[in-house]
Amino acid sequence: MDIKRVGVVGAGTMGNGIAHVFARGGFNVVLCDVDQRFLERAVATITKNLDREVSKNKITESDKASALGKIQTVTGRGTLADCDFVVEAATERFEIKTEIFRDLDGLTRPEIILASNTSSISITKLAALTKRPDKVIGMHFFNPVPVMKLVEVIRGLATSQETFEIVRDLSVKLEKTPVEVNDAPGFVSNRVLMPLLNEAMYAVMEGVATPQAVDEVFKLGMAHPMGPLTLADFIGLDVCLDIMRVLQSGFGDPKYRPCPLLIKMVDAGWLGRKSGRGFYKY
Ligand SMILES: NC(=O)c1ccc[n+]([C@@H]2O[C@H](COP(=O)([O-])OP(=O)(O)OC[C@H]3O[C@@H](n4cnc5c(N)ncnc54)[C@H](O)[C@@H]3O)[C@@H](O)[C@H]2O)c1
Repeated sequence: MDIKRVGVVGAGTMGNGIAHVFARGGFNVVLCDVDQRFLERAVATITKNLDREVSKNKITESDKASALGKIQTVTGRGTLADCDFVVEAATERFEIKTEIFRDLDGLTRPEIILASNTSSISITKLAALTKRPDKVIGMHFFNPVPVMKLVEVIRGLATSQETFEIVRDLSVKLEKTPVEVNDAPGFVSNRVLMPLLNEAMYAVMEGVATPQAVDEVFKLGMAHPMGPLTLADFIGLDVCLDIMRVLQSGFGDPKYRPCPLLIKMVDAGWLGRKSGRGFYKY
């Protein structure tokens, strides 16, 4: 299949990064969100991030202009009808993704692949909402998308080998490294990472150590580039809580119980870096 025009649904943190890498990779991109404001913010972020790549001599000014020229922003999903591939990166809520997948299934050509960037929702369940479950797949990018090399490529129960191979090859075209994973709560990345972050929060809650001390242990003792609480603030504490809840309900195992301090901080609106306060102040 010749993929030239790519739809990206959701223009937030991940959607703007995904649009950025597709446009920089030479694809025409239709970036879709519910409100013009979010699209303007996304284009401003993409411009700033392309500027950074120019200043680091990774791309030229003309590459930047060409990438920006390939991104079309829309609030109406109808424009996605003639896309050759769509990746959904909307808010991590099953109801929202349900509506989007049903709509995309009716809107787009039946042979095109519908991918989701979900961090934790079952690809098998998303696929079952459509009449093309063999063409639904997880394409899980990491934040910041233009920088991070990994794409977890997640096969739902019905995902075909052909779909998997197309998305694997597409990831390579975007200069990413695809890693094949089967569908299970949290896939590999969040199943392993989130309990680590959650446990670090328990250590803080129980007064074992301050956030700074916990982070120092991981930076200096385990050579992590940033400690777990800095990382949790960066990801967003609401996102961390949502993922812990998916693990908790998906496995039904009490070891995935979200830390009460995390719940309290989210209730207070302390969502990490994006809200100005989390385990640290920004
Ligand atoms: N933030 C991360 O580090 C990260 C990493 C990997 C994957 N993800 C996943 O990526 C997805 C997006 O996360 P994010 O961090 O970019 O969230 P975000 O809140 O920054 O952005 C979500 C965007 O989706 C838009 N949206 C909501 N409903 C929509 C709809 N019906 N149609 C079109 N757009 C809609 C919102 O307006 C918002 O702009 C989630 O599934 C999340 O689990 C996030």
